Amino acid sequence: MSEGTSGDVLILGVESSCDETAASVVKNGREVLSNVITSQIETHTIYGGVVPEIASREHIKAVNYVIERALAESGFSLEDMTAIGVTYGPGLVGALLVGVAEAKAMAYASKKPLIGVHHIEGHVSANFIENPELEPPFVCLIVSGGHTHLVIVKDYGKFEIIGRTRDDAAGEAFDKVARAVGLGYPGGPKIDKAAREGNPHAIEFPRGRVEGSPYDFSFSGLKSAVLNHINHAKMAGEEICVPDLAASFQNSVIESLVSRATLACEEYGYKTLAIAGGVASNTALRSAMKAACQKKGISFYYPSPAYCTDNAAMIGAAAYYEFMRGNVSGWDLNAVPNLKLGER
Ligand code: KG4
Ligand code: ZN
Repeated sequence: MSEGTSGDVLILGVESSCDETAASVVKNGREVLSNVITSQIETHTIYGGVVPEIASREHIKAVNYVIERALAESGFSLEDMTAIGVTYGPGLVGALLVGVAEAKAMAYASKKPLIGVHHIEGHVSANFIENPELEPPFVCLIVSGGHTHLVIVKDYGKFEIIGRTRDDAAGEAFDKVARAVGLGYPGGPKIDKAAREGNPHAIEFPRGRVEGSPYDFSFSGLKSAVLNHINHAKMAGEEICVPDLAASFQNSVIESLVSRATLACEEYGYKTLAIAGGVASNTALRSAMKAACQKKGISFYYPSPAYCTDNAAMIGAAAYYEFMRGNVSGWDLNAVPNLKLGER
């Protein structure tokens, strides 16, 4: 295991799995020296969602820039890096390939170890950045645009998945509902904002339950109920109160997330809960989870919003722990669009 002359482990992290191209330099897994993100949101907004082919092209345009900036802002050079970490799945295959090819070429040319990182392991690791005392084991709820997983983080890089969504991801439900009421893409932050002005009990929407699987999630029934509500209102010529609808929808999602995450802590005997992923930046979810944890004596952790949505600091943090466990990738590392958590 090679370390810098100072004994510090410096990782250059690269992320390109969806619509953010990002690079970051992270020291010893927890200290972020730079965190550069370029978002493609404006490009995709006109299509109402991410267009994979366009995402790949935009990553190609941005990837060198974000890496150069991340290194410059960290005050270190590529030569100073101990290793290079990169998201290799899950995600859009063309988008992932840009980061993987770039990281591989840089690692090979500079003779540095290459570390393939699971995107969800990255999201979980975002919690380590600002919480030096947080260590496994703990329960983690990962809620993003593509994933809704309830896991036990048994150790660094070791996960037991105890629940997942059976249909839409939580963020996907936010995005679809936002589109249906004309709030645009990405829907999560817009629903979050609109909901602050609304009544969460104005409309009674269903809470998705999966019979016999207390830790699994289902959001497609809720999404259909919201769409039906909108259609009925339109047919009756009634105006929709967007803040009330946003707040009521959000409340249903939050109740599903909070009840399962806290139940998992109680049933599995863990006193620490963390949340991660884009939806973890939702203000109402953060305060509801905080209140529920306080009541049950659970320590609650959540990353700053900038570390919830896709970024490369979380990839640098995860890569550090993989590196310390000796998990270095070969030069045949490839993008794996449906990579399972815990697989290497
Ligand atoms: O983690 P992320 O950046 O990308 C994926 O890995 O999917 O998550 C993006 C998702 C989008 O669906 C977005 O609408 C949602 O996170 N999101 C939010 C909020 N901010 C982002 N959902 C609810 N409330 C928010 N404040
Ligand atoms: Zn993500």
